[in-house]
Amino acid sequence: MSEATNNLRLAFLGTGSMNGAILRGILGAGHDPKKITATLRSDNRAAQLRELGINVLIGSEDPEANTKAAAEADIVFLGVKPVGISALCAEIAEALPAQTVVVSVAAAITLATMQEQLRDGQPVIRSMPNTPLMVGSGVVGLSAGQAVSETQIKLVAELFAGSGEVHVIDESQQNALGAISGSGPAYGFYLAEAMTNAGIAMGLDEKLAMDLARATVAGAGKMLADPQANPADMRRAVTSPKGTTEQAIMTFDAQGIPAIIEAGAKAAAARAAQLSAELG
Ligand SMILES: NC(=O)c1ccc[n+]([C@@H]2O[C@H](COP(=O)([O-])OP(=O)(O)OC[C@H]3O[C@@H](n4cnc5c(N)ncnc54)[C@H](OP(=O)(O)O)[C@@H]3O)[C@@H](O)[C@H]2O)c1
Repeated sequence: MSEATNNLRLAFLGTGSMNGAILRGILGAGHDPKKITATLRSDNRAAQLRELGINVLIGSEDPEANTKAAAEADIVFLGVKPVGISALCAEIAEALPAQTVVVSVAAAITLATMQEQLRDGQPVIRSMPNTPLMVGSGVVGLSAGQAVSETQIKLVAELFAGSGEVHVIDESQQNALGAISGSGPAYGFYLAEAMTNAGIAMGLDEKLAMDLARATVAGAGKMLADPQANPADMRRAVTSPKGTTEQAIMTFDAQGIPAIIEAGAKAAAARAAQLSAELG
């Protein structure tokens, strides 16, 4: 992490699963915990967060927790549920320094929806992280609003880079990105679940079937983590002509699995667009 990034004062407003994962990734990359403040609504997860050496403010004890944290930060990560983002933006709008960058991790909430609640010219970034961020293997899509400078987007990208791959994209691509990498970890788990059931159907003991499916999907995932890896080439390399794997792949193709996956991803993107309209 560069010195410029390490010197940033960070605020995490609503530090649940996703903001907590981002925070841990940033700490893991060596950020000074004393420069980080996290807020929560209740004190449920406060002890765990305090163990990280960061400052923790609880909304139920201090109604100004979010505004105090926002007022002292260079970058503010909004980690509440999508339905709470507009209200949180309105709550912190006046307290935010003019150059503080607001980064939302909420699905489906547009830059325009956030900008509406914030002061004119406040830099805003919409992000779509995924849960493997928790194990340092995440994917994050970032889209910057008009007031965000090149330096600011680079700093935010560097913060996320500690826990995964970062892609800066136009906001119009956010729903498609979310349908692949945001929802995608569930697709990987779904594949492992289906492989487990296939093993059981062929007479394997449930625990053995699950162990085989879990370790195999995890192992394939590890091989794919190489940025040079090409999934189609890798699949061909383990599919010998007239062999056993070829029979499985031919059956998947004949039954239309690729088209089914495309339809599923499109349904996820369509749902994101619908949520944006409802919450905008
Ligand atoms: N989980 C994912 O896979 C995923 C992936 C991509 C994006 N996201 C996005 O991440 C966001 C959070 O999801 P999550 O799964 O991390 O939810 P979560 O675990 O429930 O975290 C939300 C946190 O926000 C706190 N909170 C709520 N209102 C607050 C307020 N006004 N001030 C301060 N803290 C407040 C909650 O505190 P209490 O517990 O005390 O109520 C909780 O700790 C969502 O917008 C979601 O779209 C999640």
